[in-house]
Amino acid sequence: MIGRREFLHSAVVGAGGLIFAKSLPFAFAADSSGPASRIEILLEEPLGTVSADIYGHFAENLSGVIYDGIWVGEDSKVPNVNGIRRRLIEEMRKIKPPVVRFPGGCFADSYDWRDGIGPRDKRPRRTNFWADGESSVAPASHKYDPNEFGTNEFAHFCTLIGAQPYLAANVRSLPAEEFYRWVEYCNSPAGSTTLADTRAAAGFGAPFDVHFWGVGNESWGCGGNFTAQEYAVEFRRYTTWVPRYGQQLAFIASGPNDDSWDWTRGFLEEIVRKGPRELHGIYGLALHYYAWNLSRGRTRNWIEGKGDALKFDAVDWYELLRQGDVMESLINGHWQVMSEFDHEHVVRLVVDEWGPWYRPGSELTPGDQLEQMPTLRDAVFSGMTLDIFNRHPEKVAMANCAQLINCLNSLYLAHEDRFCVTPVGHIFELYAAHQGGQSLRTIFSAPNVSYERDGKPATFWGLQGSASLHVKNLVLTVVNPHVSEPRETAISIRGAAAKSGTATIVTNSDIHAHNTFEQPDVVTPETKPLEVNGGSLTYTFSPASVTKLSIELG
Ligand code: AHR
Repeated sequence: MIGRREFLHSAVVGAGGLIFAKSLPFAFAADSSGPASRIEILLEEPLGTVSADIYGHFAENLSGVIYDGIWVGEDSKVPNVNGIRRRLIEEMRKIKPPVVRFPGGCFADSYDWRDGIGPRDKRPRRTNFWADGESSVAPASHKYDPNEFGTNEFAHFCTLIGAQPYLAANVRSLPAEEFYRWVEYCNSPAGSTTLADTRAAAGFGAPFDVHFWGVGNESWGCGGNFTAQEYAVEFRRYTTWVPRYGQQLAFIASGPNDDSWDWTRGFLEEIVRKGPRELHGIYGLALHYYAWNLSRGRTRNWIEGKGDALKFDAVDWYELLRQGDVMESLINGHWQVMSEFDHEHVVRLVVDEWGPWYRPGSELTPGDQLEQMPTLRDAVFSGMTLDIFNRHPEKVAMANCAQLINCLNSLYLAHEDRFCVTPVGHIFELYAAHQGGQSLRTIFSAPNVSYERDGKPATFWGLQGSASLHVKNLVLTVVNPHVSEPRETAISIRGAAAKSGTATIVTNSDIHAHNTFEQPDVVTPETKPLEVNGGSLTYTFSPASVTKLSIELG
């Protein structure tokens, strides 16, 4: 049985640091003779609406992401819709993708959008930002961008999958004029401007109505090597006069990397120097966080600190989850810094790059730069991360998993006519049910996972997750990080009784399990009916699993 001290600790962790006093009566009211693990869902404590946009994607013009992953070309033998891989479209429709970010990433600040419009056979070939990292076996299109996939093709891809486009503009190497001309190309009404005519000549008479615009990418690094103050000046300049064509534009500022509180502080300090009204010109501040350092504190070296995607032990499993768990403190920390300048929280966080990043070597298609093999570990990591976003609906407006296909934490892997959905893709399928629901305060209390980390005792939380309400349907997603122990758990729904439900589980007996072109169904979700006894629920979460309980309330 879990002790009081342990319980208090895990209740605080479970509440994500929220109004602890409020959680106590419910927590202690639970029956002390039941299972050691408990989940309490507080129907009367909504936290805000889960923005569908936190289930967003990111597709950079990087190695096999666009050419081979998304774009196969109209004349390809690979089944396609106007050059776009048909299987990808079909799979993405299942996960209700809200938004896709393109064309980068670092690529964005070297991209001239004009290269990617007009007749495809007349478009120039340009050196890709990532060319120097490409191996000798990489196809030419990965080094020298043929520009076959440009604004029109991207907008069309978004229409086919039902997502909104999110374009990242070039601040490092194009003038501000080119930013508003790109907006003009995308959004000016049919017949109104020369650029609208150019768009119509390509078959797109109606405007694309692009709402989300990134103003540079990682402007502290590849996006211009600015200081936060310098970038804030550029941000104001680039966004000062941009035509609206009757719609609100959402400008997303290049934000901090990890825990660079100074970037957040410096940027906002400079923005409000011209007055607090300036904040209203910013929709979101982009936070980038990759879990890459699996060295257990031995180094901060970007190359040496990385772990392997496929070769790992139980300690490496927990280490990755510990790294990923940092996301919650980054959201809380940057939010706190933002409040120093943005007292009313006009600006929200946009986590437009997140995921694990391993050393090279596990790519399914040899030569694909930054491609790695997602395993069950990455599925659990992704479930945990999406739960964190769900728990902070007032802070996180959008998030974009890096990256969609043939890259880091990819949902899909593809090469020529071969394709598979990764365990991460299945997590997005599971979690789509949260979109648009009311996030509910939910308390998780479970014995910690205890293990040995380099000869010293270490712990990690025992159960975590998130819940959202959709009229009479409750969606609860839960991660059990323990590599070998199931967690029998009493689930209390405060304010209603469960009538019926289903459980959908992503797990495997092997923590390294992953899907390949030859074996695409090693890790797939399994759905079972849920046993509900007189409104109360006890459920055993499998080891190393992500579970979605979909519960009809009485
Ligand atoms: O996702 C890969 C790269 O990681 C992106 O291009 C860049 O923004 C980040 O550093």
